[in-house]
Amino acid sequence: MVARNSHQERTLTMPHQKDLLLAEGKTKRIWSSSLTNKHVIIESKDDLTAGDGAKHDIIPGKGALSNQTICNVFECLKAWGLPVAFFRQYSATEFIAEHCAMIPYEVVVRRLAFGSILKRYPSYDKGYVFPELLPEFFLKTSGKKWQGYGLPVDDPLIIFSQNRGCLFRPDQPIGQQAPFLILDDFPLQHSPKEIKDIDQIAIRAFLEVEIAWRKLGYRLVDFKLEFGHNVDGELRLADVIDNDSWRLLDEHGYDVSKQAYREGEPLEKVAANYRLVAQRTELFCI
Ligand SMILES: Nc1ncnc2c1ncn2[C@@H]1O[C@H](COP(=O)(O)OP(=O)(O)OP(=O)(O)O)[C@@H](O)[C@H]1O
Ligand SMILES: [Mg+2]
Repeated sequence: MVARNSHQERTLTMPHQKDLLLAEGKTKRIWSSSLTNKHVIIESKDDLTAGDGAKHDIIPGKGALSNQTICNVFECLKAWGLPVAFFRQYSATEFIAEHCAMIPYEVVVRRLAFGSILKRYPSYDKGYVFPELLPEFFLKTSGKKWQGYGLPVDDPLIIFSQNRGCLFRPDQPIGQQAPFLILDDFPLQHSPKEIKDIDQIAIRAFLEVEIAWRKLGYRLVDFKLEFGHNVDGELRLADVIDNDSWRLLDEHGYDVSKQAYREGEPLEKVAANYRLVAQRTELFCI
């Protein structure tokens, strides 16, 4: 007979208790669980930021709306078989996820050409539809530094070539620049195969979320993902997908995502967008 009450079973059934604050970013707090070191509790805050924190506001209730959106999106991705760190909702503003060692990339997938891509590829008109999804990797840096190297900009575009990572300015045409830095023997934390795996998971996740939105009459323009390794070293789609992560157009072409905030819409309108998106994602998995 299989012994019941295994560690995994207890973890699934016993209540997690929020323990120590492990990290706090602009929009989230990461808490350890007193039950297990395999999971963390991720709390969404009411903060809304743009331009890497240059613009900052608080929308009361935004944390709960973000958490509702995250849980609705990740419940579906999990049901569709994607390897997500998301485990389950914990409270109105929190969810439980596998504790990951984060991989320092922002992976952006695009269906339509909006935003910084127009600077890198000026030949694309705004709104150009990529018949095949376009994934791009950006190295997450801060203070214009990466492991002792000085950088001209933060969050450079990284293009992998064999075992090397070529860094480019994200705000200038790719065709008119050479990499400003080539990192040899890169990526260090993972195999080149894992780059392919990340690429494929990102594309599959986009296709699933795109279809879910299309059924509700919305157009998913692009989104940003982060990946990590769980405590067993397995690759996971981690962090969050919420209304801050994507551009999303309604049937009139109006952007209901954080983009409205970036473009200076009044906070009440922005808050209404977050409510609308959280409510609509309730219908995602049906
Ligand atoms: N499952 C997870 N396990 C461990 N850390 C995670 C997990 N999911 C997300 N994180 C990390 O939690 C941190 C805090 O989130 P937040 O997005 O608020 O930070 P931030 O200020 O935007 O900074 P960053 O640019 O690193 O995202 C991020 O660094 C994120 O990578
Ligand atoms: Mg973040």
